[in-house]
Amino acid sequence: MKQVKLMQGDNILSLKKLPDNSIDSIVTDAPYGLGKEQDMNIVLKDWIEKGYSEIKGTGFMGQKWDAYVPQPLFWKEAIRPLKPGGHVLCFFSSRTYDIGVMAMRLAGFEIRDTITWNFGSGFPKSHNIGKSYDKKMDNEREVVGKLENYQDKSSKGKNGHMMEEVKPRIDMDVTKGSSQWEGWGTALKPAAEYIVMARKPLSEKTIVDNVIKWGVGGINIDGCRVKIEGKDDRSAGIRTGNFGDTELTPGGNGTEPYIPNEEGRFPANIIFDETAAEMLDEQSDSNTSRFFYVPKVSKKERNMGLDLFEDKIIEGRDEGQDELNVAFKKRPTPQKNIHATVKPINLMTYLCRLVTPPGGIVLDPFMGSGSTGISACLEGFRFVGMEMEKDYFDIAEARINSYEEYRKLLKK
Ligand SMILES: C[S@@+](CC[C@H](N)C(=O)[O-])C[C@H]1O[C@@H](n2cnc3c(N)ncnc32)[C@H](O)[C@@H]1O
Repeated sequence: MKQVKLMQGDNILSLKKLPDNSIDSIVTDAPYGLGKEQDMNIVLKDWIEKGYSEIKGTGFMGQKWDAYVPQPLFWKEAIRPLKPGGHVLCFFSSRTYDIGVMAMRLAGFEIRDTITWNFGSGFPKSHNIGKSYDKKMDNEREVVGKLENYQDKSSKGKNGHMMEEVKPRIDMDVTKGSSQWEGWGTALKPAAEYIVMARKPLSEKTIVDNVIKWGVGGINIDGCRVKIEGKDDRSAGIRTGNFGDTELTPGGNGTEPYIPNEEGRFPANIIFDETAAEMLDEQSDSNTSRFFYVPKVSKKERNMGLDLFEDKIIEGRDEGQDELNVAFKKRPTPQKNIHATVKPINLMTYLCRLVTPPGGIVLDPFMGSGSTGISACLEGFRFVGMEMEKDYFDIAEARINSYEEYRKLLKK
């Protein structure tokens, strides 16, 4: 039976209502803070003096909540209800990872590791310098192809809703210039997100004493082993004499050779989506089963449990460039779940299981449309979710209530 407590409002206020040392793990997808670059001299000074710095502007697609990564003031509230030794798994972007993690350190967390989630389906958002240069210099560009059925639309996001003007579809020329700046851009194709693994310091002298007292402190290695496909794979470590995978001895006083385990491979700090796994397979001529991989969120997964909700246009990662370096904008699709950054349930399930003891309480203070909550329920954990936007809160509540439907969907 699920046990869920959902709180609407600012998470700093909601966190104040939780008792000390009552939460087993925090698994969350916090704002990435992809807005304006801030002056770090000011931010760090503010953080050290008062744990908070006033940030101007907005973040991803004009959203106020994404203006900055969670600040030390937030993490200081979050660390109090977490049990000593309790883990946090928190998503960050490759651009703002450093400041996000610094805020956690300043609040007293120990950083234990970083898991990268690698995906092959991202689109570069790179400025075509060659094209801009030619425009400025009035240079002719050679037409090298045609982009058929291209649709332009302007999109300005606000609170998860897209205000836009969709223009008629047109065929568009693909051009190439000959200046020295042709082929130069400003950004790489995004292919990784970072999940920091942090821990509230232990209250006891040893990990064993800490797990005895609080039930937390370790991570669930056996519960997260990656199934082995094929015998050769299983014996790889021994056959090559490669004892790279090591486990801490029970006393925590060193390492011992990795002993192949029938249940599967030792969980690694790298996770793939389907496309990235396929790319790796092609390159290495092998099978990526040694790593955990999850498909991206399907439409069904995003919208399940929301039959009574209206379809709305959502904002999303809709701008980018194709391989020909031509800027394009994807067509907006109406959805019931209007959240722009829904995470896959399988990924969140794995993460919850990695850091939460059986029957424990998972907290997500940035709940969004509730993906962590569904995952926690599927694993038999109790769940506390916090979200300030009413629209997202309602969606999260409905999706979490339908977690059994998700079980059926994900089993298929
Ligand atoms: C990156 S999204 C999480 C999306 C989620 N992983 C999902 O699958 O739907 C972060 C969420 O945190 C919420 N948020 C941001 N600041 C908040 C605050 N101070 N208190 C509560 N919620 C907040 C935003 O409204 C947003 O929905």
